[in-house]
Amino acid sequence: MRYEAYSGSPVTQRADCMVVGVFDNQTLGELGSELDRALRGTLTRLLKRGDFSGKPGETLLLPETGNRTRSVLLVGLGSRTAYQRRAWRKAFSAALAALLRTRLVSAAFALERPLGGHFSEAELARASAELCGSALYRINDLKSARKPRDPALATVRIGPFRSGDLPAVRRALAEGAGLADSSALLKDLANLPGNVCTPRYLANAALAAGRAQRGLRVKVFNEAQIRRLKMGAFLAVTQGSAEPPRFIVMEYRGGKAGAAPVVLVGKGITFDTGGISLKDPGAMDEMKYDMCGAATVIAALQFAAAQKLRLNVVGLVPTCENMPSSRAVKPGDIVASASGQTVEILNTDAEGRLILCDALHYARRFKPACVIDIATLTGACLIALGRIHTGLLANDQKLADELLAAGNASDDRAWQLPLTEEHGEMLRSNFADMANVAGREAGTITAAAFLGKYTQGMSWAHLDIAGTAWVSGSAKSATARPLPMLTEFLSRRARA
Ligand code: BES
Ligand code: MN
Ligand code: ZN
Repeated sequence: MRYEAYSGSPVTQRADCMVVGVFDNQTLGELGSELDRALRGTLTRLLKRGDFSGKPGETLLLPETGNRTRSVLLVGLGSRTAYQRRAWRKAFSAALAALLRTRLVSAAFALERPLGGHFSEAELARASAELCGSALYRINDLKSARKPRDPALATVRIGPFRSGDLPAVRRALAEGAGLADSSALLKDLANLPGNVCTPRYLANAALAAGRAQRGLRVKVFNEAQIRRLKMGAFLAVTQGSAEPPRFIVMEYRGGKAGAAPVVLVGKGITFDTGGISLKDPGAMDEMKYDMCGAATVIAALQFAAAQKLRLNVVGLVPTCENMPSSRAVKPGDIVASASGQTVEILNTDAEGRLILCDALHYARRFKPACVIDIATLTGACLIALGRIHTGLLANDQKLADELLAAGNASDDRAWQLPLTEEHGEMLRSNFADMANVAGREAGTITAAAFLGKYTQGMSWAHLDIAGTAWVSGSAKSATARPLPMLTEFLSRRARA
């Protein structure tokens, strides 16, 4: 897909189709009225007849209008006063979906600017390209039938922008397109079944990303090397599985030599059965998504390298399966983590924190500017926050605020939960330095508190994506969240 930005009147744009919005009182905005005048009132006549209501997301294709652009696509914007970012996104996506059902090859968008003002021209452009890219995503399914043919749409023109803004807008379009590419990589990895996307498969995907991107170095540690790193907590999780574990280290150095890197750590459980603390069978297939944090980190490093961000970024991915077997770790077993702290594993289904704590300890050697871990860590987060917000916990409020702001700017929001020393005390054990679980109360917070025992002295934030990383039901798929938030965070740091 080609993304172009235009300035000047939408009426003069050459494209197979012009996309204009209609409010739900059947009126046109400024841009729509301009086109209507060029079409000698065709659109107002049609709206007067009541052929189009303007409800959010409604679309109507007018195939021949006699204008320079062959056809016009009307899209409902909903009520004028509620036309804010979300309504704009909805209208944009609906128009795009309608275009992809046709054989039109090019389209020019002339949607009204959303109200509220907190949407800069560049953000609008970035979101446009991102929405186009995600609309084009097709699940890499393993169905044996022939794949449906690709959509015809090849060029999308976005505008109108002030001509002075065009350079910034073009950069934003490229960034949005890059985000869509990285999102597709993330979703492809996440949507694959656990018998295909194994720890070795993830490691190969990271190596392939490293080969494809200049400046991205990837190292993969095998089980013997993980043992030499004394990652006893990580090893306890993998010991029940016949699939070997991997520890993936990705390094992108786009910033000043020696500048402290941002370190991203992703949970890479390629399938979570719960282990000996076996899960209920309902929807257990979805535990193939327990590596979404890992896929996010791989995609974020690919993005940083592809966009040549002026920033140093390190990605760490501990990856293995969590399986029951005669060799599996048992409730009550005590292991020594890489930091030296011992852990009583009371519940083998709380495995994410066990692989993450050793990776977080490994992060120290990079003397990081900050560490952010991304994990489908607790079902409790889904209960507490639902599927709208990612859970955010941090030991550094400035870092938390930066992530919240990046989430707002990219429509990929997080919500912060408290994290105190008292929560850490809930993990007390009679037999080891800590237990890996602390009962049912505040499950998301005690999980983060566990990780907090490994990040002291580092600026650290934790993103619990148990509710946001994928959607269930008939549209079951990975969402690529929280990649938009993280790439926005990285881009902002790179510009700072
Ligand atoms: N991967 C799960 C968390 C999860 C569950 C994410 C459902 C998304 C949907 C994690 O490893 C886990 O099993 N956590 C336990 C922790 C508990 C044993 C303290 C949980 O949430 O039940
Ligand atoms: Mn689990
Ligand atoms: Zn898990």
